[in-house]
Amino acid sequence: MKRVDDFRLQLGKHELVPIMIGGMGVDISTADLALEAARLGGIGHISDAMINTVSDRRYETKYVKEKLALYKYNVKNEDKAVVQFDLGTVVEATRLHIDATMARKQGSGLVFINCMEKLTMNAPKETLRVRMRTALDCGIDGITLAAGLHLGSFALIEDHPRFRDAKLGIIVSSVRALALFLKKSSRTNRLPDYIVVEGPLAGGHLGFGMDWAKYDLATIVAEVMAHLKSEHLDIPVIPAGGIFTGSDAAAFLESGAAAVQVATRFTVSEECGLPAEVKQEYFKANEDDIVVNEISPTGYPMRMIRSSPAIGDGIRPNCEAYGYLLDANGKCSYVTAYNREVAAHPGARKVKVMDKTCLCTHMRNFDLWTCGQLTWRLKDTTHRLADGSYQILSAEHIFKDYQFSTDNKVVLP
Ligand SMILES: Cc1cc2nc3c(=O)[nH]c(=O)nc-3n(C[C@H](O)[C@H](O)[C@H](O)COP(=O)(O)O)c2cc1C
Repeated sequence: MKRVDDFRLQLGKHELVPIMIGGMGVDISTADLALEAARLGGIGHISDAMINTVSDRRYETKYVKEKLALYKYNVKNEDKAVVQFDLGTVVEATRLHIDATMARKQGSGLVFINCMEKLTMNAPKETLRVRMRTALDCGIDGITLAAGLHLGSFALIEDHPRFRDAKLGIIVSSVRALALFLKKSSRTNRLPDYIVVEGPLAGGHLGFGMDWAKYDLATIVAEVMAHLKSEHLDIPVIPAGGIFTGSDAAAFLESGAAAVQVATRFTVSEECGLPAEVKQEYFKANEDDIVVNEISPTGYPMRMIRSSPAIGDGIRPNCEAYGYLLDANGKCSYVTAYNREVAAHPGARKVKVMDKTCLCTHMRNFDLWTCGQLTWRLKDTTHRLADGSYQILSAEHIFKDYQFSTDNKVVLP
């Protein structure tokens, strides 16, 4: 049987190891992680989710404090329409993160940025335009458009000098979404350079309803490939979601996929941005600890570990400081749910909100432990140490395990 290393991904002039580490929002897929993938000849992703917050933590800026100071007067107001991002700070923060990352890049691989379009930031089009254009300005190798795929995204950057040179990819979970995107962006005469097909077992937000279990990645990938063939389109297809071993990956490559996108295995790497104690929660999780629920205010189901502190927590919304999920009208369904609970429990010091969560605050604080369905197998990828904890792995070890392993085996460190 073949292994991943028997294949290469051809993206324009680049010949790559066909392993792409997926974007993991709010600095879970750090620059260090993405750079390891690139150094080893594959593709890594940084993410621009909550970029101002990430910049504060990494580059000593004070964007969050400044935004909160500006809008403090509005904290108790249900209407968040006034809470706008200063686009200049979004540019600066994006620039800081990408410049610092690209300056350290080594090896023959590529570093892309995951751009989650569902982060509507109270001005969806304007903020998305700035995010994408700045990424291109800073020399990012590619942009992957994720959750909430905006059908007109390519048009927002079509006059940028790097529009045809940078790699642009999309994430879809159905042929229908793909066909819609291709139709809408055909006017720009610019096809995506790659298509990530994300199945129902992935981490983060899902492109499925709560009936996700009825779907199967291999079937959707086959449908996408058939559709591309019937349209005479030759675009690399990259399956994602539940590809846990090198053999799982090789099976997709043998059936015509160009590469695979993986993430969950890397959540327990040294380079991953999760705090050390949270990585242990990922290792410890059992199969029935992994749930898909609808608490994300994006409106998409999301997969997470059941014991995530974010579930049921009723903190006051933090839109004046963050506000990444405010829609074009300044609304977020967590704000609505929170105010409903406050009204129902007058005088209570703290409320519980079960149906929605303050995603910005909890992702920022690593209190929402989103994960792939196969997280429960992570404990089998390492050693248990004498103190009962699990040994953290290097990203290089995990990457090479995907690249070289055979027979459904996972090599222990
Ligand atoms: C912790 C975590 C966070 C994620 N965050 C994002 C994100 O911000 N944007 C995105 O497009 N996908 C996100 N994903 C999905 C991954 O990029 C990837 O496509 C998917 O998880 C692959 O499946 P696997 O985790 O089973 O390997 C996330 C996945 C995980 C595990």
